[in-house]
Amino acid sequence: MGLLLLSLGLSLVCAQKFDPRAIVQQNYNMARVSGVWYLISMASSDLKRIEKDGDLRVFIRNIQYLQNGSLMFDFRFVVQGACEEVVVVCEKTDRNGEFSISYEGKNKVTVLETDYWNYITFYLQNIKNKTETRVLALFETCKKYKLDSQNIIEMSRQDPCYARR
Ligand SMILES: *[C@@H]1O[C@H](CO)[C@@H](O)[C@H](O)[C@H]1NC(C)=O
Ligand SMILES: *[C@@H]1O[C@H](CO)[C@@H](O)[C@H](O)[C@H]1NC(C)=O
Repeated sequence: MGLLLLSLGLSLVCAQKFDPRAIVQQNYNMARVSGVWYLISMASSDLKRIEKDGDLRVFIRNIQYLQNGSLMFDFRFVVQGACEEVVVVCEKTDRNGEFSISYEGKNKVTVLETDYWNYITFYLQNIKNKTETRVLALFETCKKYKLDSQNIIEMSRQDPCYARR
């Protein structure tokens, strides 16, 4: 009986997850995160690292969930005024929604919250030279309007990576 109640409870929880607008803060279905995302804002415990020419000022464009559970990011960042593109793989860890990568030190990348549909928030903990820097990044997508990247013009022109299509 206890088991039956438990499974009823679980199926209720699962049914709730079918609401496409629901906000998810755990047990992420990372496959649903795959796609094109636009950086909206960043915050950091060390602003220098996300300001112009900061080493953690990275523009993630495309996120792809890989068969083996890792996440592939299309990174763009500015080197001496030019936009550089690089593809990196964040390896999955034992925890759902948590990934690790070596880039300017060691990084732990965690999904904080998403509705899969409009936005996703990542939390990055970087350890470089024994100093920890924390970064929050909010990304938005245009999936809800069924727009493809070729139909979107980005309005922020602060950086070469933004001006570039
Ligand atoms: C997962 O696959 C990617 C792409 O093939 C690879 O770069 C990465 O090292 C793989 N990770 C693991 C843990 O096998
Ligand atoms: C590492 O940190 C120490 C102490 O904060 C500093 O003196 C040193 O220059 C730093 N090294 C690098 C490579 O940033």
